[in-house]
Amino acid sequence: MTDTEPNGANRELKMRLRAAMKGQGLSQADIVTQTQLNGEAVAKATVSNALNAEKGPPSSVTLKAILNALGISGSDREELSRLRDRADSRGDQAVVGVVGLPREPEGFVGRQDEIKELLEVLDPASGSRRTAVVVGMPGVGKSALALHAAHIAVEEGRFPGGALYVDLDGYAGEAEKKARQTPISAAHALEVMLHTMGVTSEHMPPTEPGRAALYRAKLAEFSGPAMILIDNAPTADAVKALLPGLGNHRVLVTSRHTFTSLSGARHVELKVLTVDESVELIDTALQLFNPHDLRVRKDPGQAPRQAVRATAAGIARLGRDPERRPAWLARPPGR
Ligand SMILES: Nc1ncnc2c1ncn2[C@@H]1O[C@H](COP(=O)(O)OP(=O)(O)OP(=O)(O)O)[C@@H](O)[C@H]1O
Ligand SMILES: [Mg+2]
Repeated sequence: MTDTEPNGANRELKMRLRAAMKGQGLSQADIVTQTQLNGEAVAKATVSNALNAEKGPPSSVTLKAILNALGISGSDREELSRLRDRADSRGDQAVVGVVGLPREPEGFVGRQDEIKELLEVLDPASGSRRTAVVVGMPGVGKSALALHAAHIAVEEGRFPGGALYVDLDGYAGEAEKKARQTPISAAHALEVMLHTMGVTSEHMPPTEPGRAALYRAKLAEFSGPAMILIDNAPTADAVKALLPGLGNHRVLVTSRHTFTSLSGARHVELKVLTVDESVELIDTALQLFNPHDLRVRKDPGQAPRQAVRATAAGIARLGRDPERRPAWLARPPGR
């Protein structure tokens, strides 16, 4: 018989999920990997919470992904979903906000300290700082980290107002001039946000000040805190144009630059992955391709071999492009 009281239902749900995992000999890491393979990537921390009886019930989206990962269907699936609904006395209707977050990157690894730091800011219940900026060199993983942390915060139900996202794509630098556009204007960024909030083109104010006013007015009316993720910001001014006025919202920014003029923002500096994280990345990447490829997991000494092979394959591909022959690798840096 199932328990109808919310806490009891939560405990039973988690006990049954853990039993199903044990029965199939799967670890939490296996579940995370399987959700990625299914295109429903659930963060490690979210899977861990979903199995921990001390934590609240998972969202219906998380549970669905975990049930898919475990291959649970039919009446078992229905019963577990009912348990979740009973455990979540708030019901799914508690999260009614805007949903503008893109999917998080597949196979995310590491960055535990930085995730913790970001989640301190992405907590409307705490009175700490309201804006965090992830800074670091090109390609180091700022956007991936921000999206990953944002998904954890939303999955944990911290933002009943929802999540807004805009990619300012602010790095139309010399090397990328051909391939990328110039940073999007504040007016365009506000348009993206307002569209996510349901404002149709027909009702879009034509000018930037008009859009900014509507954006702030709408945010002030939100029934609960929202998270605003401003990705790839080129300047502090571009960020300031999107800061909310009233309301207990939180803002997460990624940029290659430190924004000293963004008063009160917490900067989290991102360095390259540690050696252990890099090994985990190679292991995860191999399994995303083939879940049975456990070479690196069984023998981490395999990681350097795989890394060298991947690099060699990349160089070989470069060789097809007459403008980017492998020879450039042999040139001294900066030439
Ligand atoms: N921790 C990680 N685990 C797995 N993959 C990662 C991780 N960090 C970054 N990546 C991958 O590395 C690539 C580059 O990362 P990302 O785009 O986040 O870098 P960035 O710092 O935002 O770059 P830019 O300065 O160009 O905006 C992406 O494909 C991303 O998915
Ligand atoms: Mg980025």
